[in-house]
Amino acid sequence: MDGPRDLPYMSNRPGGPSDSSKPASVSGLRAVVLVGFMGAGKSSVGTALGRRLGWPFEDLDERIQAGERRSIEEIFRQSGEAAFRRLEHVALASLIAELGASPRVVAVGGGAFAQANNARLLEGAGLSTIFLDAPVEELFRRCRRQQVDRPLRGDLAEFRRLYEMRRPCYLKARSYIDTAGKDVERVAAEVIESLGLR
Ligand code: S3P
Repeated sequence: MDGPRDLPYMSNRPGGPSDSSKPASVSGLRAVVLVGFMGAGKSSVGTALGRRLGWPFEDLDERIQAGERRSIEEIFRQSGEAAFRRLEHVALASLIAELGASPRVVAVGGGAFAQANNARLLEGAGLSTIFLDAPVEELFRRCRRQQVDRPLRGDLAEFRRLYEMRRPCYLKARSYIDTAGKDVERVAAEVIESLGLR
């Protein structure tokens, strides 16, 4: 996965908000963490949000891949999901440990917040978690359009099963945003609003 995963349905519209929309105050937040299922737009919304807020954006999957010098697909194939989950947890803990005075926007992979140890870490660190959601059929459609290897995507039935299993975990996030039919910039604006930054 190189760079943010652009979602075709969520094109960055020209004429979007300029830097003048950047909130003047950051309200003491250390990080905003985007959670949700595959295809929710966590990376593309995170990139737009970081740009609007003037905060660096970090994708946890990118950190894992850089540390391992392997793609997510290779980690799953060579080492299995349990090993990936351990790497994911260690990466999240190190990211949180690095948070300082200047805030960040973070996107975590679809399974991260569904793991109780990660949810506890995020909650314990007092970070703002935002659940980006959409109907499962739309999430699946978005994933199919993207050139991203997702070892756990499967077919629609498997995708739906996993989504329904995880959704109660995602709902524990501090905020909920329905992304159905919305473009990246609109979702980023709604995140800012939900954080009270505008
Ligand atoms: C996963 C989602 C992926 C990636 C890995 C596992 C999951 O991230 O972390 O393939 O368990 O749902 P995205 O949600 O960014 O696709």
